[in-house]
This record gives sequence, C-alpha cells and structure tokens, in this order.
Amino acid sequence: MKTMEDESVYEMIKDEFEKSGIFKDESKLLPDYVPEKLPHREEQLRLLARLFRVLLKSPGAISQKVIIIGNVGTGKTAVSKRFGLWFERFAHEKGINFRYIHINCHKDRTLFLILNRIIDKLSAGMPKRGLSPYEMMHMVKDYLKKNDIYLLITLDEVNFLLRSSGEDVLYDIIRITEEEEEGEHRFSYIFISRDLSVFETLDRSITSSLMHNIIKFPPYTAAQIYDILYERAKEAFLPGTVNSEVLKLISEITGIDKGGSGDARYALELLWRAGKYAENEGKNKVTLEHVRRAKQDTHPIISSDLLDGLNRHEKLLLLAIARCLVKYEKAMIPFGLVEREYRIVCEEWNTRPRKHTQVWEYLQNLKNSGIIMTEISGVGYRGKTTLISLQDVPAKVLEKYLVENLKRR
Ligand SMILES: Nc1ncnc2c1ncn2[C@@H]1O[C@H](COP(=O)(O)OP(=O)(O)OP(=O)(O)O)[C@@H](O)[C@H]1O
Ligand SMILES: [Mg+2]
Repeated sequence: MKTMEDESVYEMIKDEFEKSGIFKDESKLLPDYVPEKLPHREEQLRLLARLFRVLLKSPGAISQKVIIIGNVGTGKTAVSKRFGLWFERFAHEKGINFRYIHINCHKDRTLFLILNRIIDKLSAGMPKRGLSPYEMMHMVKDYLKKNDIYLLITLDEVNFLLRSSGEDVLYDIIRITEEEEEGEHRFSYIFISRDLSVFETLDRSITSSLMHNIIKFPPYTAAQIYDILYERAKEAFLPGTVNSEVLKLISEITGIDKGGSGDARYALELLWRAGKYAENEGKNKVTLEHVRRAKQDTHPIISSDLLDGLNRHEKLLLLAIARCLVKYEKAMIPFGLVEREYRIVCEEWNTRPRKHTQVWEYLQNLKNSGIIMTEISGVGYRGKTTLISLQDVPAKVLEKYLVENLKRR
C-alpha cells in the first residue's frame, strides 16, 4: 500500500529531476521558439505590415510578394513567423480568413513537397496520392475558394528549392498563382534568402515587381545583441543567475562592430551553453568563464538549427567527413575515403548505408548548405577526384556536435 511518506519522497525526487539552479525555462533559448519581443526589428516588421496592408484592404485584389534578405542569424525566420501570427490575428479581427504557412525549403525542396506541406497545414483532408503537383495546386485553389480562405506563405531558405524535372520550382509557384482570375488572388508570399542570387534566374516580368519589395536584415551590432540577449535571458533564466557582464561579453564576441558576424543565433547558443555548464556544475550563477568555455566548444556556422535541417544520412556523411579530416590531419579529403568512412559510421549508428549515387547527392546538399566546400583534384592525385573541405569549422568541434545531435534524435 502506498503511504503518505512514499508520496512525499516521490515529490522530492520529482523536484530534483525538474530543478535547475539556472534555468527557469530553457526552451526559450532554443531556435524553434519565436519570441514575442524582437528588439531592433521594429522597422522590418513595420515594412512588412505596410507591404501586406493591401491584402486586408481588398482581399483577393492582388497577390503580394516580398523578399527578405539577410545574413545568418539576423532574425529573418523569427520575424516572419512572428509577423505571420500577428497578420493572421489582425485579419481574423477584420473578419478575413487569412492563414500563414511557414515552409522551410531546406526540408521541403520540391513543388510536390511544398504543396504537401500546404495541404497538411490546411488540414483539408484532401487526397494527395497519385496527384501531380499541378492537380494538387488546383485542388488547393478550389478548397480556398470554396471556404473563402487566403494564404500568406513564407518560403524560407528559398535558395534550396531544387530544379526538379527541368522546371524551376520558384518560377512555377509564382506563375501558377499569377494565373488567377480577377479578384481571386488567394496566394501571397514572403521569400527568405541570404542573398538575391536565387531570384536572378527568374523571368524579368516577375523580378521587376519583386525587386521593389525587398526588406533587408542587417547583421546585429554588439549593443543590439545585448538587448536581444537581455530579453531572452529574462524569459529563460532564474532571476539573478545571469548578470550584465555575461551578456556584455557574449555581445562583444558576436557583434558585427566588434569583429563578430552579427549573428543572434550564435549569441543565444553561447548563452545557452554557458548556462548548461553552470547548471552541470551545480552552480547558481553563470560566469564569464562559462562563456569563454562555451565559445571554445561552439562554432557560429554549425548551429543546431542548421543540423536539424539535414537528414540522418547527411548528418552521418558529415560525421564521416569530420572524422576523416581529424584522422588524416589534412585540409582536404578525397570523396573515396569519405565514402568508405561513411559506411563505417553507418554501421556504428545501426543504419543501412545508401548507394553511391545517393551519397553523392547528399554531398551536394551539404555543399549547398554551405557547411562544406568541394573542388576537383589537380596535380598529386591519380585521375580526377572530388576533394572535400570544411567551411571554416574545426573538424573536432563539428564531430562533437554531430555525435551529440545524432544521440539526441
Ligand atoms: N531581434 C531579435 N530579437 C530576439 N531574438 C532574435 C532576434 N533576431 C534573432 N533572434 C533569435 O536568434 C535566432 C536566430 O534567428 P533566426 O532564426 O530568425 O535567423 P535567420 O535570419 O533566419 O538565420 P538563417 O539565415 O540562419 O536562417 C533565433 O533563436 C531568433 O529567435
Ligand atoms: Mg532562418
């Protein structure tokens, strides 16, 4: 029989499991969380509101398209998601049924996958099997018309849209939505990219209007990062655990005016890691030393966000690359060696390795993500072979990250 005492011991143990001397709510620092306060992005939010205002004034009259450009960690994703929530709410208050759908093109790289995602988000219960993208598109259109729904779709990391079966996906998407009848424009878009190159291949008729609607997200200065960290720290940490010196050091490591890259994601990751170190030591204060250690163990380019965009095999292949670079102590490693290592890595992680052509495709994806670089060998190698190197990331740090990440899943 259970006694009162059992219960209180259980409560105590439970408390011990949950207790942290540092964090109030760690999840507030993780990349998925969309903060309500976005300091130093008021201007960008205002511009978005101004550009999309027309949709609420006369729904269906036009299809609006806006481009967001900015470097890594400048708040492009967070701002557009926050804007989407507010836009939906405001439209709802005006009695217009607008839905915001955020699509990460790194994950959904073809027109088919994007349409799949849209249908899922509409939870329309439409049949998807055996339909061509064109048929799916028309089904979605009919559904929107019948239920009087409008969509604001964000295509995030739009540069990852691959040309599938000879068609340009971005072009197709825009064209399909342009062919609406008058007053029936139900699709509007935000395109997010780090630079404009993806739009350069588009037809002039499309780009001419698009190029008027560009919103830039400049890298953050140290002072701006300080404000961002301050707000997030209030949500994530227990009172008194993080002082302004800690936030100042992180903002000086990361601010663009102090030689950093102005990347808020990296700054938040440093803060989170420093907090973890303090927590693991059973401390109730984050110190400058924790930050310095976090800096040593982190690298701005490999954030968990980036790794989450890779599939399991891409991660295993990247792990193989990192291991080869560590093992052979070379700056570049031939693809042949990497592929051999990949098979060993797969075995260790109980995963059946993929075929050569598939592995080659994963390699191209890693290259497109900007994590690795490749080049064709010159003198000193027999025949032509592809050499792989890491983009400015210490292989050891990457290896550690990947193992952590793979274990977590
Ligand atoms: N102004 C801000 N206020 C609060 N948090 C911010 C701000 N800007 C960025 N962040 C946070 O920094 C992290 C990175 O931001 P975000 O993911 O929006 O960057 P991004 O521009 O989309 O980068 P990438 O090009 O790598 O996708 C997120 O955790 C986000 O919440
Ligand atoms: Mg982003």
